[in-house]
Amino acid sequence: MSTPSLEPAKIVAVQQGLLGWFEANRRDLPWRRTRDPYHVLVSEIMLQQTQVDRVLPYYRAFLERFPTVQALAAAPTAEVIKAWAGLGYNRRAVNLQRTARYIVDNLEGTFPREVEALRSLPGIGPYTAGAVACFAYEQDVAFIDTNMRRVLHRLFHGVDVPSPTASDREILGIASAVVPPGRGWVWNQALIEFGALHCTARRPACVVCPLQAVCCAYPGVQSAIAAVPRGARATTEPRFHESNRYYRGRVLAALRDLPAAESGEGIALKALGHHVRDNFTEADVPWLYGVVKGLSDDGLAMVAEETPGYDGGSDEPEPQLRIRLP
Ligand code: ADE
Repeated sequence: MSTPSLEPAKIVAVQQGLLGWFEANRRDLPWRRTRDPYHVLVSEIMLQQTQVDRVLPYYRAFLERFPTVQALAAAPTAEVIKAWAGLGYNRRAVNLQRTARYIVDNLEGTFPREVEALRSLPGIGPYTAGAVACFAYEQDVAFIDTNMRRVLHRLFHGVDVPSPTASDREILGIASAVVPPGRGWVWNQALIEFGALHCTARRPACVVCPLQAVCCAYPGVQSAIAAVPRGARATTEPRFHESNRYYRGRVLAALRDLPAAESGEGIALKALGHHVRDNFTEADVPWLYGVVKGLSDDGLAMVAEETPGYDGGSDEPEPQLRIRLP
């Protein structure tokens, strides 16, 4: 490797500094006490885009409700979506069950061990495949999520603000070079924890950082962050209550809340509209259909066409759409 910052002495210094920091600062999290690949997979899917504190109660309740990959595979999808309610990004729940069903139907319920085989499962990307191989089977593999990417970029490449200058490929190359042999599990947990608690995106704790002396982004990263105008990102992102994700959540909440007697039949599209948006009108129907279609494409909702009874009169009734959970 030609990058000057990947000299062996630096790698050793980073490994020692980061592992020392982790020993002193690690959180006792339930998925760090298990090597069950199903439990690890559930945790890693829940932790995507979601903070640890929010995940904790869902992780416990989900595994109580679906303790094994077989239990998850056998459950009605509507139950899985309900167990996920409130965690957000509900597509993850459907994808997770899809993975579970594949493992039960095709692999006799046994998780593959190798990254390549894990990667080939439906619903599993490179990060999750690496995380399961490492955190369940203690393999010395490299993988990167947002936190790990940021830490490695700063340590070995330099300031990442306003935007990273190294590609994901480069960062993955660095990640592979720095896994300490035989210590992949603790190393990758440490990297994640350091990114979540210490080397954060907006407030890195550089002043008290044990890696100052070997960090390519020290001391410039804090002034680079300060130079980014406050709220620079907010103007480009829609406010949450105007976003598609918000309305997807509203639709799912309305479907989940249907009385048991009606949940199998679902609800008419227009009636659904009144649960989803104040002042819903006929003009909003195409928009609502778009939201529902997106949920249906992702396996989160079912859309059925129903023609009301035709009495032979001159006007054939228009088909109506009924929406329900899968
Ligand atoms: N985010 C993703 N994986 C994690 C883990 N194993 N521990 C804490 N946060 C995480």
